[in-house]
Amino acid sequence: MISGRPMGPGAMARGRADMWSGMGPKVELQSSPWKLTVRLLSMIKDYNYHLFMALFCLVSMSALQMTMPWAFKHIIDTTIPERDVNGLVWIGIALLIIQALRYVFGYGQRYYISFASQQLVYRVTRNLFEHIERLSLRFYERNSTGEIISRITNDIQAMQQAINGGTIMAFVGLLNMFAFGVIMLALQWKLALLVFLTVPILVGASQYSANKLRDRYLRVQEKAADVNNVLSENISGMRVAKAFAQEGRQRQRFSSENRGNLDANMSTASVQAVATPAIQMISAAGTAGVLGIGTYFIFDHSMTVGALVAFNSYLIQFYQPVEDLIRVNNTLQQALAAAERIFEYLDEVPDVSDRPGAVELARAEGAVRMEGVTFEYEPGKPVLIDANVDVAPGQVIALVGHTGSGKTTFVNLLPRFYDPQSGRITLDGHDIRDLSLSSLRAQLAVVIQETFLFGATMRDNIRYGRLDATDEEVEAAAREAHADEFIRLLPKGYDAWCGDGGVLISRGQRQRISLARAILKNPRVLILDEATSDVDTETEVLIQAALERVMRGRTTFVIAHRLSTVRHADQILVLDHGRIVERGTHEGLLSTRGAYHALYHAQFAGQELSTAAG
Ligand SMILES: Nc1ncnc2c1ncn2[C@@H]1O[C@H](COP(=O)(O)OP(=O)(O)OP(=O)(O)O)[C@@H](O)[C@H]1O
Ligand SMILES: [Mg+2]
Repeated sequence: MISGRPMGPGAMARGRADMWSGMGPKVELQSSPWKLTVRLLSMIKDYNYHLFMALFCLVSMSALQMTMPWAFKHIIDTTIPERDVNGLVWIGIALLIIQALRYVFGYGQRYYISFASQQLVYRVTRNLFEHIERLSLRFYERNSTGEIISRITNDIQAMQQAINGGTIMAFVGLLNMFAFGVIMLALQWKLALLVFLTVPILVGASQYSANKLRDRYLRVQEKAADVNNVLSENISGMRVAKAFAQEGRQRQRFSSENRGNLDANMSTASVQAVATPAIQMISAAGTAGVLGIGTYFIFDHSMTVGALVAFNSYLIQFYQPVEDLIRVNNTLQQALAAAERIFEYLDEVPDVSDRPGAVELARAEGAVRMEGVTFEYEPGKPVLIDANVDVAPGQVIALVGHTGSGKTTFVNLLPRFYDPQSGRITLDGHDIRDLSLSSLRAQLAVVIQETFLFGATMRDNIRYGRLDATDEEVEAAAREAHADEFIRLLPKGYDAWCGDGGVLISRGQRQRISLARAILKNPRVLILDEATSDVDTETEVLIQAALERVMRGRTTFVIAHRLSTVRHADQILVLDHGRIVERGTHEGLLSTRGAYHALYHAQFAGQELSTAAG
């Protein structure tokens, strides 16, 4: 088997790539194919009518098809010997009508099947997206972008193939086999029994290949996701790749995943390549036997020539569904593997969700309390330990501490990006877990460390803060955030494109846009995770001025890298390895000469001059 070749250089590269990118957990085959099928069918139960109509059209088509060999038998055994021209004309007319009807049913069958399968794609895509959108950040941390996109696109496509690719046709094929079997019994029962002898062998062979295929198709779908994964990572990381001249390495990584995909596909092809000719051979042997013995029956006068011709046409049609079944089995197994992967996502339960009867908070005052909050991303490794904070409405809380001390984690708990393992957080006295997520998050605006802008215009990016804002309100917010002045200089102004993630404008500009977004939202609680200040002094002064204006009258948590922010804070919390080790005001903390004092000298002292100058 191709996938089982010895470890060559390619295999080693593959191993390395897997290790490097940590491609996430693989799905194991768990559910039985029947359970999967039932669940899959339940998703299109609203389209039962269409599926039924498709089935009806198909059955009608085959019923019409079944009349053809009878017509031949009649022509050979009766019309020709009796030179019955009149009868021939009638048979001709009947055949024409039959073909016309077959055309109509053929149209109907294709239409209804396409309708149902397109609906399936539409529905599952929608349901899957709506579901994963509700999932918590942890889900996105565990699953890579490429994997998620792959399940929404490739896997759903594979499910569609199962319906389009003739599953219903194969089902009808089974019915046909039964009908043809009965007709063959009527024509010549001994020959029919001979044919039936080959059936168990055929069923065994197709069963064998089915079992092998499902497992392999799961690998195929996974490999396709891996390719997607490397692709999405490469495209978003292209700047880094180019900067480090690592295009060659990236190419190698991509090519090794791509080869993995090829190998996985070839391993299914090899099963098909063995199974299909074997089945054809068995049916060919059956046909040869029928012709040989049938001819002997003609010599014997126990069968007419017409009957043998008819029998043979039925026989061909009897074997046809078996070949179809094997082909369909292929797409069906792929679809089941895909369904397994899709259901795995659909079964994910959000870590953070609304409690039944969650309270809708209208407009908060902005009093925030943390009581004994402990949080860990991974069990046994607390990142925030027993945090207690009491914030009055409108206060500014500055969080300082070394990198990795837990500052971002601290603020991420307020909008419930994660829930703490113990302790509680309250907003205006309500445990935030008792509030509906939407009403809680409506009170907050978060300006995150890594500013992200959507691939849209400046205006739309700002309006993201409040979708019903007017253009004037958007521009007023931009002015407050000192974004207006640079936006106006752009050739298209507010209608200028930001680029994917905001790459077309500078980092300081992105920050100001996201500030404007937060201002427009007019939140009660503002969370600012300042990016390490690497913007130029002039921009810094502008952002600082904007920040001060935005913080006015709101409860603000700010992870501060700027001395001026820290100095004016009502409370400074010093975090160290997840613990609040000191708290107080700037002057108070400096005078105690503890952790803040040390941090101040390491981080802020150099800013004294520039801030004073600004
Ligand atoms: N999503 C996550 N999953 C697991 N661990 C995480 C996750 N995010 C952060 N951590 C870990 O939690 C700790 C605190 O991280 P956090 O981002 O809160 O630090 P920080 O104080 O904001 O640092 P910085 O100043 O560099 O932004 C770090 O050890 C980090 O590795
Ligand atoms: Mg941080």
